[in-house]
Amino acid sequence: MWTYLAFLAIIYVIYALKNYVRILRFIFTLDGPKTVPILGNVNAILEGNLIQRMTNEIQDYGRIFRLWVTFLPYIMIVEPEDIQVVLNNVKHTQKIFFYKLFDNFLGKGLITQNVEQWKVHRRLLQPAFHRHVLEKFVGIFSEYADRLVDKLLEKNGKDINITVFINNSVYDILHETVLGTPTNQRRNDDDPFRKGQVMMVYRLARPWLLIDWIYQLTAAGKSEEQQRRNIFNFCLRKMKEKREFLKKNDSLIADDSTIRRTSLLEYMVEINERNPEFTERDIIEECCTFMLAGQDSVGTATAITLFLLANNSKWQERCVAELHEIFSDDDKRSPTMQDLKRMKCLDMCIKESLRLYPSVPLVARTLGEDVKLGKYIIPAGCGVFISPYCTHRLSHHFPDPHDFKPERFNSENSEGRHPYAYIPFSAGPRNCIGYKFAILEIKSIISAILRKCRLEPTLGKEKVIAKFRVTVRAQGGLWVKVRARDEQYESGQLD
Ligand code: HEM
Repeated sequence: MWTYLAFLAIIYVIYALKNYVRILRFIFTLDGPKTVPILGNVNAILEGNLIQRMTNEIQDYGRIFRLWVTFLPYIMIVEPEDIQVVLNNVKHTQKIFFYKLFDNFLGKGLITQNVEQWKVHRRLLQPAFHRHVLEKFVGIFSEYADRLVDKLLEKNGKDINITVFINNSVYDILHETVLGTPTNQRRNDDDPFRKGQVMMVYRLARPWLLIDWIYQLTAAGKSEEQQRRNIFNFCLRKMKEKREFLKKNDSLIADDSTIRRTSLLEYMVEINERNPEFTERDIIEECCTFMLAGQDSVGTATAITLFLLANNSKWQERCVAELHEIFSDDDKRSPTMQDLKRMKCLDMCIKESLRLYPSVPLVARTLGEDVKLGKYIIPAGCGVFISPYCTHRLSHHFPDPHDFKPERFNSENSEGRHPYAYIPFSAGPRNCIGYKFAILEIKSIISAILRKCRLEPTLGKEKVIAKFRVTVRAQGGLWVKVRARDEQYESGQLD
């Protein structure tokens, strides 16, 4: 009897490990960055230089290479045609195990959800990012951008770390657009989202903490859990307030055409009214996700673009000339959606900035079935890393890849470029749901600043020193000198 049970257990283990062994056999045929015992490539992740190293050494590894995150094997793909095969197929929308480590930080929303839940939520939430809804946010973006400009003008002639100013403004915008709370209605304890820390790197450095129940016993685990609870309870309160408000004002209307939507939270409460399958818990988790996914990503992209414009005066003045064409001498008029669309030069500069420094430098998927990439057959279940940062710096797609050249994105130069060569918002069915929101917000902030301020480089701080975490950060901050433009749109000409 016992022999029989042991035999069954061995068969079960072999079956369960079959795919792992298949992946291992494949991984051992690949080259990749140097590893250390047990940790694999985690050391380089901890030091924050893995992405930089891979970018520099890509030619040595070939089109597909391997990475070891502790004892878990992954592959990394860099060429757009391979990336397209993975990102464009709904069968590969499952995220890898490590996304679970973001649950506490990002909420258990769209970013980290398993495929079944994600499909339902994405379908329900996609309309919330439709043009008509975003149009209502444009006024909010520009109101906060104007307040930001006033704060910058107080620093006239001084060197400032622009990151701090931008991050505060982006945070205020999110509070209003996601939770429907304008700054003047915020209480002092309304800031749980700014205290969150990504614990992934800490846990990777101590692989035993990757086991949830062990981690939860540690001080770090307990503190993260407390942080998660604070955020959750905060969103719960906001949701209750919103529901009360909507009931009192009789605004929970089932007819789409007359619905009044002032925030994503309001939109989600309305979804829940019509479709209880989208629960109150779901609303809260998605609120957390939007609040956190829209923070550093937009903050970094906006601050780096401003920094690059300060250090490339020719492009700054081109953007200013374009703004002059759009607004003439009317320095008070806030931009409309149409105006933002007309900012083509600014659009190119933002795109180039996101090419050089994509806010999210690494994404990952689990293959849902075997995939053929060139001469390789990648086994189902294998985790695949894709780095927008590495791909954006391939010189055969972007010549002089480390230079700031926004003209790459004019229509003539974009022609013929592979659609997956440029992927700051990822691509395919599980791309960034907030990408139009983000671009409108970034344009609103930067255009408001350029209409009133001239940006200059700060001596000795003219380089971005990229640091790679979940998002790209600029080590030491992004320093620029801000000067009031004496005359509205004093500028050069568009050539
Ligand atoms: C410059 C700004 C932004 C960049 C570069 C960016 C980039 C990305 C990337 C690369 C992904 C894919 C992540 C992955 O697959 O692991 C993503 C997903 C996502 N982003 Fe963004 N993002 C930005 C702004 C925003 C904003 C403003 C919001 C919301 C208000 C947002 C919400 C989300 C959500 C919910 C997802 C998950 C989508 C899904 O799986 O269906 N993002 N973003």
